[in-house]
Amino acid sequence: MRRTLVRDALASREYGKEMTVAGWVRTRRDSKAGMSFVELNDGSCMGNLQVLAPASLANYASEVTRLHPGASIKVTGQLVESPASGQAVELQATTLTVLGFCDPLEYPLGKSRISFERLREVAHLRARTNTFGAVARVRNALAFATHRFFQERDFYYFNAPIITASDCEGAGEMFQVTTLDLEKPPRDPDSGKIDFKQDFFARPANLTVSGQLEAETHACALGNVYTFGPTFRAENSNTTRHLAEFWMIEPEIAFADLNDDADLAEDYLRFLFQEVLARCPEDLKFFDQRVEKGLLANLEALAKAEFTRISYTEAIALLEKAADKFEFKPYWGADLQSEHERYLAEELFHGPVIVMNYPKEIKAFYMRLNDDQKTVAAMDVLLPTVGEIIGGSQREERLDVLEARIRDIGMTPEDYWWYCDLRRFGTVPHAGFGLGFERMVRFCTGMGNIRDVIPFPRTPQSAEF
Ligand code: 4AD
Ligand code: MG
Repeated sequence: MRRTLVRDALASREYGKEMTVAGWVRTRRDSKAGMSFVELNDGSCMGNLQVLAPASLANYASEVTRLHPGASIKVTGQLVESPASGQAVELQATTLTVLGFCDPLEYPLGKSRISFERLREVAHLRARTNTFGAVARVRNALAFATHRFFQERDFYYFNAPIITASDCEGAGEMFQVTTLDLEKPPRDPDSGKIDFKQDFFARPANLTVSGQLEAETHACALGNVYTFGPTFRAENSNTTRHLAEFWMIEPEIAFADLNDDADLAEDYLRFLFQEVLARCPEDLKFFDQRVEKGLLANLEALAKAEFTRISYTEAIALLEKAADKFEFKPYWGADLQSEHERYLAEELFHGPVIVMNYPKEIKAFYMRLNDDQKTVAAMDVLLPTVGEIIGGSQREERLDVLEARIRDIGMTPEDYWWYCDLRRFGTVPHAGFGLGFERMVRFCTGMGNIRDVIPFPRTPQSAEF
């Protein structure tokens, strides 16, 4: 017999229908009348299905009465109208098979509420809690919505390599990949030091910080593409919005400028908010009630929001007027700090803000130099509470300007010969951006810490799983 999802059983009104469900016990209650009520969750929704296990079951005394939270069972029975308030249906078991018992003395997810910090230490089990089950479903909905958005607009899904020699952001925040024999590592003949330049089969290699440069190769052949994959940053940031391993979505669009890029970012963000509202109403209601009051109203407003667009120069002028509010004083030439980003989105514009045209010194080498020679065609999209959610730019498509920029920051154009080739052979204006997927999941769930929206967070403190 096919397994019915708890979600579908709860929504069904086909009283008398026989069905089989399977899942994990949340609670068991025994009544004086000689039967047990078992709350069953299978991850298909927030709700539990109440299973009524009568004492007439062959394994009632031997097994049913030994069921504790966390045990796994399969139940076949009849769906009936529930006499109890608070639920429409329940399942009257005709057979109940125990798949796995769970020792209540050892199981870390007992009845009492456990802090999110403690749950990170049992990350392999935390998806069984209401909160983390809901996070996983929202994450899934946002991933599906991402593919839908780009596929419906004729973008090709592009898989960027994970191991690469390039440093897209030029920030040197890369994890090295090594095949070195650490017993007998190659050494520099003069200094005797280990030659880490020969890491990966005698070539330097690292984990990618961004799939953008490679995505540009396909945008300059196929038109519009997008990546959706893991990226890595070896920055020692212990904040609630940084991970060492995070997922990024990076569209790259050909024959496009910075305004086209900003238009795409707005459409994509609004679409994500609309989709998550449409597909996860029950989970969002839970987050709204338990995690962040007002979340639902915020998401509904954002699903229709107009984005404010201002230049970096305008943003600095506005921030300077409010300088006494900030720990870090804003000035032209300095990067925006999280406190500045939040002030712009939360207090000044009460909604999403796109800041454009940053000083070239604080942005990556590939961004297109503006006519003023001082700024580049960059954009950051800022949301209330999280700050930067998207970073993007129009790319430098002029070979001579690109080579000069690469040299300016101390890199060699020869190392990026293939990237420069795109400008040598039929160059086109193009643009793109990267959205930090976990920042988006965090925003849509109201979860306070980014470590709680990725199944197994990798941060300077944690990578044990
Ligand atoms: O601004 P970033 O560094 O831009 C790039 O990597 C470009 N190559 C993107 C592009 O144009 N294709 O990163 C993009 C986004 C940020 O806005 C942020 O949301 C997220 O990635 N991000 C992080 N998320 C979690 N942990 C970190 N350590 C992150 N660093 C960046
Ligand atoms: Mg950025």
